[in-house]
Amino acid sequence: MANVVVVGSQWGDEGKGKIVDWLSEQADVIVRFQGGHNAGHTLVIDGTSYKLSLLPSGVVRGKMSVIGNGVVLDPHAFVAEVEKLKAQGVVVTPENLRIAENVTLILSLHRELDALRENSSTGTKIGTTKRGIGPAYEDKVGRRSIRLMDLKNLDTLRGKVERLLAHHNALRRGLDQEEVSADVIYEELTSVADQVLPFMDSVWKLLDGERKDGKRILFEGAQGALLDIDHGTYPFVTSSNTVAGQAASGSGLGPTAIDYVLGITKAYTTRVGEGPFPTEQQNEVGDFLGTRGHEFGTVTGRKRRCGWFDAVLVRQTVCTSGISGIALTKLDVLDGLDEIKICVAYELDGERIDYLPASQGAQERVKPIYETLPGWKESTEGARSWADLPAQAIKYVRQVEELIGAPVALLSTSPEREDTILVQNPFQD
Ligand code: IMP
Repeated sequence: MANVVVVGSQWGDEGKGKIVDWLSEQADVIVRFQGGHNAGHTLVIDGTSYKLSLLPSGVVRGKMSVIGNGVVLDPHAFVAEVEKLKAQGVVVTPENLRIAENVTLILSLHRELDALRENSSTGTKIGTTKRGIGPAYEDKVGRRSIRLMDLKNLDTLRGKVERLLAHHNALRRGLDQEEVSADVIYEELTSVADQVLPFMDSVWKLLDGERKDGKRILFEGAQGALLDIDHGTYPFVTSSNTVAGQAASGSGLGPTAIDYVLGITKAYTTRVGEGPFPTEQQNEVGDFLGTRGHEFGTVTGRKRRCGWFDAVLVRQTVCTSGISGIALTKLDVLDGLDEIKICVAYELDGERIDYLPASQGAQERVKPIYETLPGWKESTEGARSWADLPAQAIKYVRQVEELIGAPVALLSTSPEREDTILVQNPFQD
């Protein structure tokens, strides 16, 4: 039985929601393993649109869904998302959702710190979602986090809060902010405990049992591999590992549980927030892609930066995530262009290189080297077989495969589930 990890192979927003939904129908368990409510996954089912930020996409289909230990969880945002889904007729209960007992909690002070740093005139502006993701992971690594299980042990919770505040209030004083009292944080946590604790479980154990029972597990990545804290465009990244390897440590299953890695890949490139973007088009091409592709953030509503497909980056992601095959999305956005460019290599200080250098300075200096392909005038929107695609579009897809060194397993041609060309089903690898 195959277990599948889905990751974004660019800077996020590759259209993971639709593909994860398609796969989750075939899966028994769906697991989030990193990130938090900075993600924005849109599922369209029977004409109804569901926007998820924190919950695994499987909840909409009533599948067993799991929030793994690698996630950072804002308990109030969790309750709000459950309520929002309830209003749409989706019922989330401990029968279909479990949260790892050792998940790190995001508190109001994390959100405030995230916003303070982003709004400050000094330091590096990352363009975060201001959800408190980075500060929460900092506390996790700093070994002072409040974790979900701590809400169950109220006699030790206060001491943990005080320990956390010794760190945060020192920071706040330095930033000219009022200190936070332990009472406020204690109340913030205890007021929500009853709504979250029923979902708590030993997730590693649950997943081990499911695996041994031969169940199909789908690991749902958030953001994209180029936002990975180690392998991304540091410091313009998110604060978690977004590469496929994190599915193992962020859920408590070992790496041998992973059979197939599907990289969701947009037929062009977008990015939200600051940071290097070699193929960015701040011109009519970028406007065309942004308008045709509806490139606005699901979580923050921010306009996404747009550019040509960068094969150098995706080729690198194929390596760092061990991608078995890709799901190519939004090909139809390219319909009607006279010519289409693909970045095949970079020029760095007069030399041709075939990878993204690790240093921030070099990443800013690389210049794309393009190959130009003829476009197509016909519409590819809604195509469901190769025969529905114009020859030039097929040529483009084949060139992408060749350049990134991974096959197209799925081709998505509209937000509708059925508008998909299936080459290889990851679950039947
Ligand atoms: P943070 O994850 O809120 O700390 O933001 C760090 C960077 O990751 C910023 O550039 C965000 O725009 C980006 N980011 C975070 N979540 C997503 C996502 O789901 N899609 C695309 N970009 C994201």
